[in-house]
Amino acid sequence: MPKSVNCQVVSLSLPALRTVVEILQVVQVFGNPIKYVTRKLPPNPSPSLSNLPPSTQPIQSPTSISFIKKIQFAMPDFTIHDVLPLPQTPIKIPRIGFGVFQDPPNKPECVKSCLAALEAGYRHIDTAQYYDNEEAVGEAVRQSGLERSDVFVTTKIQKPQGGVEETLESLRASVDRIGLGWVDLFLIHMPVSGPEGRREMWKALEKLKDEGKTKSIGVSNFGVKHLEEMKGYSGTIPAVNQIELHPWLQQSEIVDYCFKEGIVVEAYTPLVRALKNDEPDLVSIAEAHSVTPAQVLVRWSLQRGFVPLPKSYNPERIRSNADVYDFELSDEEMEKLNGKALPGGEGAVCPYDVNCP
Ligand SMILES: NC(=O)c1ccc[n+]([C@@H]2O[C@H](COP(=O)([O-])OP(=O)(O)OC[C@H]3O[C@@H](n4cnc5c(N)ncnc54)[C@H](OP(=O)(O)O)[C@@H]3O)[C@@H](O)[C@H]2O)c1
Repeated sequence: MPKSVNCQVVSLSLPALRTVVEILQVVQVFGNPIKYVTRKLPPNPSPSLSNLPPSTQPIQSPTSISFIKKIQFAMPDFTIHDVLPLPQTPIKIPRIGFGVFQDPPNKPECVKSCLAALEAGYRHIDTAQYYDNEEAVGEAVRQSGLERSDVFVTTKIQKPQGGVEETLESLRASVDRIGLGWVDLFLIHMPVSGPEGRREMWKALEKLKDEGKTKSIGVSNFGVKHLEEMKGYSGTIPAVNQIELHPWLQQSEIVDYCFKEGIVVEAYTPLVRALKNDEPDLVSIAEAHSVTPAQVLVRWSLQRGFVPLPKSYNPERIRSNADVYDFELSDEEMEKLNGKALPGGEGAVCPYDVNCP
């Protein structure tokens, strides 16, 4: 595939244009990141996930618009309503998610921050059994007044329970704690329980999906060998692999494998827990766009084709971390950030071992 393809498109009808953008997103999922588009699309008529795909939405304003688009080796223009299709499911995942890990857990603060996130436009919340705040996430979605189908909720199983049926009980208990009827994505949180434990959790997840209690299933912190191992006991592709990703830890081997296999890559700890906010190159890129270092990091993640999961309990930071749709990092800026990766996983903030047996 050529590194750069330029193409100009003029006077497309709005439905046709939305179809083009959707096709570009699908191609991206299969590992050929696409770029870019010089002018924004008219806003989606509705941010409702249940109304997607956009190509089927009613036309509101001009049926035909003139524009010039430049398609390079990157991504289509972004909005907070963007979604990606998940493999082997009819559902789509919002391109940005809201993380809620906090140590120690604080349920009232979690409810408040999720409400602030939903108010700011996030439609995707990432919790886990381990975070001890699944109930709080469900409570916030109920209090928000949004339709259940308009919010994408992920949780994760911490460990196997000594048998597929016992593990299935643990999964069902999570869905009950969240209390929204179903979850959209259920992940194996980490691969550390060994081949038998991983297989047991996956088999239980497949059953939970068959019961309709989760719409999709995936993994987190899985290395390539763990993903390959799954082919030995399941025909279900994990919809997602959620791994630590930011300029200082890029996990290229895992990312390349996931894109090749059609697995959506979620980026956790995308803000490097604010540890790099004074890094000179990051600061200078942020200043050049009059944005914060955190906004640059979220934007980097989106432009790399990941689904970033920034966390904050501060309403202003929650809002600004998702306010990343009116600037674009140039190729030079992306390259500068891409050059930050530290060797041997030294850039990792979290302790999870993607190479464990
Ligand atoms: N699957 C896994 O194993 C795994 C592991 C880790 C994380 N995750 C998921 O990924 C989510 C995000 O990762 P994370 O929580 O580790 O880290 P993160 O999102 O990279 O950083 C969160 C930290 O950055 C601060 N922060 C947020 N916005 C900021 C801003 N604009 N300016 C300055 N500081 C800012 C937050 O403080 P305030 O709250 O005070 O703003 C918090 O201390 C988690 O919540 C969780 O959902 C998954």
